[in-house]
Amino acid sequence: MKFYILTIFPEYFSSPLKVGLLGKAIERGLIEVEVLNLRDFAQDKHRTVDDEPFGGGEGMVFKPEPLYQAIQKVKEKDPDTHVVYLSPQGKLFNQKVAESLAKHKSILFICGRYEGIDERIRAHFVDEEVSIGDYVVFGGEVASLVVIEAISRLIPGVVGRKDSVDKESFTSGLLKYPCYTRPREFLGYKVPEVLISGDHAEIERFRRQSSLKITLERRPELLHSANLSQEDYAFLKSLLEKQRVYLFLLHYPVKNKEGETIASAITSLDLHDLSRLGRTYGLKGVFVIQPLSDQREIAERICRHWTEGFGAKYNPTRKEAIKLVKLFETLDSAIAEVERECGEKPLLIATDASPKRSYITVERLRELLWEKPIALILGTAWGLCDEVFDQCDYFLEPIWGRLDAYNHLSVRSAGSILIDRILGIYSFWKK
Ligand code: ADE
Repeated sequence: MKFYILTIFPEYFSSPLKVGLLGKAIERGLIEVEVLNLRDFAQDKHRTVDDEPFGGGEGMVFKPEPLYQAIQKVKEKDPDTHVVYLSPQGKLFNQKVAESLAKHKSILFICGRYEGIDERIRAHFVDEEVSIGDYVVFGGEVASLVVIEAISRLIPGVVGRKDSVDKESFTSGLLKYPCYTRPREFLGYKVPEVLISGDHAEIERFRRQSSLKITLERRPELLHSANLSQEDYAFLKSLLEKQRVYLFLLHYPVKNKEGETIASAITSLDLHDLSRLGRTYGLKGVFVIQPLSDQREIAERICRHWTEGFGAKYNPTRKEAIKLVKLFETLDSAIAEVERECGEKPLLIATDASPKRSYITVERLRELLWEKPIALILGTAWGLCDEVFDQCDYFLEPIWGRLDAYNHLSVRSAGSILIDRILGIYSFWKK
């Protein structure tokens, strides 16, 4: 593998290319690196490589001519060289991008500085634009080193044992399991017993499960493209069981059109659609809060039809869903039931169609899912009353569809969208 690096700071690379496994790989000829000084391709006696941006504004832009000359020079030597421009506007770098770049025999990295390079070079002479992350560093030099290291590790012979590359975070599509070394006990903290048991099959299992757990908790989106066995799925399912999410459908106290506090009527469709949502996303319960006894009776009859009556025989999958529905007279009694089932009070998460107080992000809510039971409270009619908001721990941002204020969704649609935003990331099962 040959790497060319085009930079205005060639000295930047003197030590990184000498040390560690990268230094050794270069010494052993597994990798060749040629650092090119962009100024050597300048066309004036001052070796100018940059100029002011057309249209005005801060900073300087790398001129097209020296960049073009440098690219041509590299292509004369290695015509198939893949040209990569490092910039914060590029494709986000990850292990997959590293694997795809590793297929090339020769890569030229253009290290931008200041405001970047002239767009005509980027558009017509660059094959791929890569960013190492959503932040800005002083220039592409450090980024090129990141990319070079990640690619180099994939080149056979660079890392001693292929095994250790395969077990790294990301190579397997999962985050790596935690490692321990001597002593067995440090400040009272012990190494997990299994690692000193000498049972290699058990150690492998423990490591695989540790990888799955840390990936599920920190980067669940990676599981969508990971290679998972039936045993992995069973283990992940047992972990997801620990999330205790309840949907509360509140019919009192809610607001009417005039903003007055009312009790609303139960809609039978809500019972069906929200319970089916609940079963699909592994909710622990769909709790319907309704103080009016005649309304509760109607809902109870509907539920009985599907859980015990003809409906249960006619459509057993509906029975599975409707079983999640429980009716309560008050919000407090629904909260008390969660506390009884889980052994602790749920965090109350309010939802509303109009902006309210400060919001919790879905990402933060997902972290809390591992710690506490969650009750997502959906208001019927014109939404939750202030007294409910006052009782809640957090508020979810309203669902905004497009760039306007229209967001008049049914409670069933809103519930589905919110649950998918929170839990959809864990939907990585493939039949
Ligand atoms: N140059 C400056 N910031 C960068 C980034 N995040 N990725 C690649 N090149 C950069």
